[in-house]
Amino acid sequence: MSTETLLTVSDFSVVYDVDPPVEAVSGVTLELQRGEILGLAGESGCGKTTLAYGIQRLLKPPAIITSGHTIFHDESGEDIDLNTLNPAQMRAFRWDKVSMVFQGAMNSLNPVAKIGAQLDDVFETHRPEMSAAERRVEGERLLEIVGVGSERYRSYAHELSGGMRQRVMIAMAMALRPQLMIMDEPTTALDVLVQREILIQISELRKELGFSVIFITHDLPLLLEISDRIAVMKDGRIVELAPAEQIYRDAEHEYTRKLLGSFPSLTGDRGGFSYGTQTGGR
Ligand SMILES: Nc1ncnc2c1ncn2[C@@H]1O[C@H](COP(=O)(O)OP(=O)(O)OP(=O)(O)O)[C@@H](O)[C@H]1O
Ligand SMILES: [Mg+2]
Repeated sequence: MSTETLLTVSDFSVVYDVDPPVEAVSGVTLELQRGEILGLAGESGCGKTTLAYGIQRLLKPPAIITSGHTIFHDESGEDIDLNTLNPAQMRAFRWDKVSMVFQGAMNSLNPVAKIGAQLDDVFETHRPEMSAAERRVEGERLLEIVGVGSERYRSYAHELSGGMRQRVMIAMAMALRPQLMIMDEPTTALDVLVQREILIQISELRKELGFSVIFITHDLPLLLEISDRIAVMKDGRIVELAPAEQIYRDAEHEYTRKLLGSFPSLTGDRGGFSYGTQTGGR
């Protein structure tokens, strides 16, 4: 993996301006490398989603960004300070450079529209120079890539299983070849095997296509398996950020060890997960 930085987040803070105010994210600083999968773990309410939305300026009132900068080091060599983009530039940026897969995203497909048409829309809107034939070829290719199969191009969303629909959402998120995909609990609604299969596939794809991933979940065992590095968040702060293997073997922070300890499969009693024996991941 190269050590070229893709994203620099510095001293990033978000407050929800309610009564009393909630300091959801406090002074977060991190660097994301190009091609890296960074796992973001932490208990419910610790600020993971707020941070992910904040990085992309997707927050709405009562959220206020009270400090911080996000610099995107574009592949063109340009450094883009997201604070300086106007709303239209930010929208374009979000599709072109960064995409997001939300929790339960599969439910945002239109059940009575064909998968192909929904993929086609993405290209029509953001790549107006593409011909209809090019859009179809690219749409079918993406469905192959995410393991749905190009023959599903003509299926309706309601004809697909939850796992298939989630793969379609991932195909859409990849459609414009973003340099960063942010995934917030993208597969929690799926059964464990399907979830694992999709994640291992994402991990393979990013090796092939070179994008970076920020992956958010409560599921620390899963993160250990697919992430290069893991950031552990608590009460709006990142308390530990280290290579996945180091987190597993030798977590520094007491809170991380507590979090690890809350998964029986990691403590060895059930023989579930053991680091280094899985076939997927890195
Ligand atoms: N719209 C809002 N108004 C007020 N407080 C909010 C709002 N959204 C989130 N919060 C608070 O901000 C904090 C961080 O929430 P956030 O959703 O970012 O946590 P999370 O780590 O993503 O949790 P989960 O794992 O449950 O998704 C929590 O205390 C939450 O209650
Ligand atoms: Mg969340």
